[in-house]
Amino acid sequence: MASNILIAYFSHWGHSRAFAEEIQRLTGGDLFEIRTATFYPEAHDPCSIQAHQEQLADFRPPLTSHVENMDQYDTVFIGHPIWWYREPMVIRSFWEAYDFTDKKVIPFCTSGDVGIANTEQDTRKWLPTANVKPGLRLGTHAVDSGTAEIKEWLHKNGVIDERGKDK
Ligand SMILES: Cc1cc2nc3c(=O)[nH]c(=O)nc-3n(C[C@H](O)[C@H](O)[C@H](O)COP(=O)(O)O)c2cc1C
Repeated sequence: MASNILIAYFSHWGHSRAFAEEIQRLTGGDLFEIRTATFYPEAHDPCSIQAHQEQLADFRPPLTSHVENMDQYDTVFIGHPIWWYREPMVIRSFWEAYDFTDKKVIPFCTSGDVGIANTEQDTRKWLPTANVKPGLRLGTHAVDSGTAEIKEWLHKNGVIDERGKDK
């Protein structure tokens, strides 16, 4: 049976990808990588300068990957690193590319130390017709040790039952 859960993520260094893969493992949902034509340098400092400029310019990095059947999903996880205290601008490109009306949207992120609050606030602002649920932030190397926390969060958001089995 086709899954009704989508786990969409953008990841530059791989930490948010690992988080997305763990959600996939626990829920059986479909994994989707958000890709962009915009190039980001690997190293922190030049990438950071570029990311800041994009925020100031309210830039929308063009998407090069597309969800073909968004109608199929009633729960959409959207994950990313924190860049300059909030979601990278490509997440806004993603938000604006689809109709999330009445879908359960659940943000998640990895970061050095900044939490998920700004992303939650922005998600509610950009997707006012979606049912935005509490998000979860993990530290950069915390995905493996975060499994219990991830399970609890998935359960609280009604995605899995108590035993960690797909609902
Ligand atoms: C351009 C850039 C900006 C960042 N800004 C922040 C920040 O404002 N706060 C923070 O806690 N971490 C920041 N980080 C650290 C990343 O959020 C963290 O390393 C994250 O786990 C990377 O996820 P990824 O491996 O999926 O790309 C930044 C990293 C980069 C590359």
